[in-house]
Amino acid sequence: MHPFGSFPATRPRRLRRHEWLRRAVAETALAPADLIWPLFVHEGRSATPVPSMPGVERLAVEGAVRAAEEAAKLGIPAIALFPVTEPKLKSDDGRQALDGENLVCRAVREIRRRLDDAVGIICDVALDPYTTHGHDGILRDGQIVNDETVEILCRQAVVLAEAGCHVVAPSDMMDGRVGKIRWALDAAGRQDVAILAYAAKYASAFYGPFRDAVGSKAALGAGDKRTYQMDPANADEAIREVALDVAEGADMVMVKPALTSLDIIHRVKREFGVPTFAYQVSGEYSMIKAAAANGWLDGRRAALESLLVIKRAGADCILTYFAPEIARGMSA
Ligand code: PBG
Repeated sequence: MHPFGSFPATRPRRLRRHEWLRRAVAETALAPADLIWPLFVHEGRSATPVPSMPGVERLAVEGAVRAAEEAAKLGIPAIALFPVTEPKLKSDDGRQALDGENLVCRAVREIRRRLDDAVGIICDVALDPYTTHGHDGILRDGQIVNDETVEILCRQAVVLAEAGCHVVAPSDMMDGRVGKIRWALDAAGRQDVAILAYAAKYASAFYGPFRDAVGSKAALGAGDKRTYQMDPANADEAIREVALDVAEGADMVMVKPALTSLDIIHRVKREFGVPTFAYQVSGEYSMIKAAAANGWLDGRRAALESLLVIKRAGADCILTYFAPEIARGMSA
């Protein structure tokens, strides 16, 4: 009790009274440097919209170059490229992933040629854009076979590194792939290419719109990825997954989805102290866009709030489809 008996002695609201004061005491701030922009690239000359992701388009290579230029201008440090593979180039074993002339490699080369190191280029390592069955690995007798898949992923990582990407991001959730990929990159003289490991990636319903965008949804059909992606029930297991990837040589780790994994992001950052990325996935984006389109919430505020709390949880950087619109507002 206060000596003069005033009540209450402590008034937290004092610090919320003015906008300047709230800004001065804010514990977390969001900047363009916290955002990474995922881009979909397809063959052809013009962009096509992704209906389940309002505001997101599949870009031609030239469009991806322009987006990369915009990212650099906005202060967004990196882009993450996802190819939309033509059905005729898909196969059971996803061998198109190993073709150095494939779409994503051509996009990487063109972006490097025009922007060099002005913006970072991150490429997914996984076979799902290239397989007829839509899985991230090799399917045999109804199983995704781990070790054989890892051998192919190593070659895919080297192909992407040789095209010029700065970071490879294994998103496949096979066991032991980070160590093998590190070894393969080093053996190919690509010691400088970093690994961003999708270390704790959950089997999530929130990837639906992404699978629309890249055309793996129809391929996957009623199938799911629960024999390799994690069960959302588990948290300690996420810590073990991150420990493995860090021990195997991951430079950065990713937790995904973001908003359903704030506890995981927090624990990973606290327990490992390594660069911790979070992926605000397609479904998280589309939910906000859909609600905003209905006038049910303020889309920009909802996006900003969700990104801020992902950062508050411990993320150093967030992959988000909101990156350009949010960064644009910040530099204005
Ligand atoms: C593919 C991959 C997926 C995403 C990123 N890389 C989909 C999946 O695992 O099925 C999802 C991203 C998103 O939903 O925005 N390995």
